[in-house]
Amino acid sequence: MTNHEQKILIVDDEPMIRRLLHVKLSRLGFHCEEAGNAIEALDKMKTYSANLIMLDMKMPGMSGMDLLTDLKIKYPDTAVIMATAVAEANLAIQCMRLGADDYITKPFNLDEVSLNVEKTLQKRMLEHQIKEYQEQLQQKVQEQTGEIRRLFLGSIEALVFALEAKDKYTAGHSRRVTEIALAIGRELNLSEEELENLRWGSLLHDVGKIAVDQFVQNKPGKLTPAEYEHIMIHAHVGAGIVKHVVNEKVAEIVEHHHDHYDGTGLHQEVAREDIPLGARILAVADAYDAMTSDRPYRLGMPVEAARQEIKRCIGTQFDPVVANAFLKIDSSLSTSEKDIAPAINMSVMP
Ligand SMILES: [Fe+2]
Repeated sequence: MTNHEQKILIVDDEPMIRRLLHVKLSRLGFHCEEAGNAIEALDKMKTYSANLIMLDMKMPGMSGMDLLTDLKIKYPDTAVIMATAVAEANLAIQCMRLGADDYITKPFNLDEVSLNVEKTLQKRMLEHQIKEYQEQLQQKVQEQTGEIRRLFLGSIEALVFALEAKDKYTAGHSRRVTEIALAIGRELNLSEEELENLRWGSLLHDVGKIAVDQFVQNKPGKLTPAEYEHIMIHAHVGAGIVKHVVNEKVAEIVEHHHDHYDGTGLHQEVAREDIPLGARILAVADAYDAMTSDRPYRLGMPVEAARQEIKRCIGTQFDPVVANAFLKIDSSLSTSEKDIAPAINMSVMP
């Protein structure tokens, strides 16, 4: 930026001093305007966005120091040089603490004034460039972090589908559960952000099954208490996997998706409304899909029987509000594929 592009506002109650500074700084190529007091200065600044203000400390009415405080709030990017009498050195230092960039003492040495003005403006320009550079850098880092997370989240999602595809009985489970959970969420008027968290919690809820023994998972027939306990670690393991790439809310949905509303679930630490709402919704959707899907040892339940079972467990396993919302929605859920797994939304990131 050349001097010609820089604007200076000279604020002093003495016309002679204003004139003197105006002439000197104009000769250096600066564009100058004048104000005789604080009110005039504030008024000028509404239309004249000065890069630098030469501000007299002592003026009738609002003092230079008070005006400085005001200017720093309203125009933080404008540099301010205070003009003080030699005897006011302490006040000048106080002004520097309040945000003034420099001070000059009266009577002026005009060459010194010019030097101070140029030095202050240069410093400001450098600060501005550094700030811009830092912002650009920050944005770049954010973009790249987002890209890495997007890729990672996509890989985990692919892992879930791959895990499910290994077994014809669980294939498509997460997608179907997501469809049902979102329908319940909409019935409950969840916000877009909550729905997005629910979507990812539902898609990823069983990723922790990677830590579950395949023999136990596919065991035909009833599980022993130890086997059941082993299978149930998948909620905690899953939350641990996803928490690095999704926000806390999504990880909590995964962590609590097998909690019972009345608090009687295995190793359960919270109950009722302390269980995250997303997890309470997912619990109903998950149970419904599990009941209506075939298993190696049994056929899937008819839709109506599964709905009755959900109804029977209202208040014990399931949150009444959530279960009733589920019972209200049409059983032939029709959320499109695109709706279930959209382009990854950054709002679910940590
Ligand atoms: Fe699960």
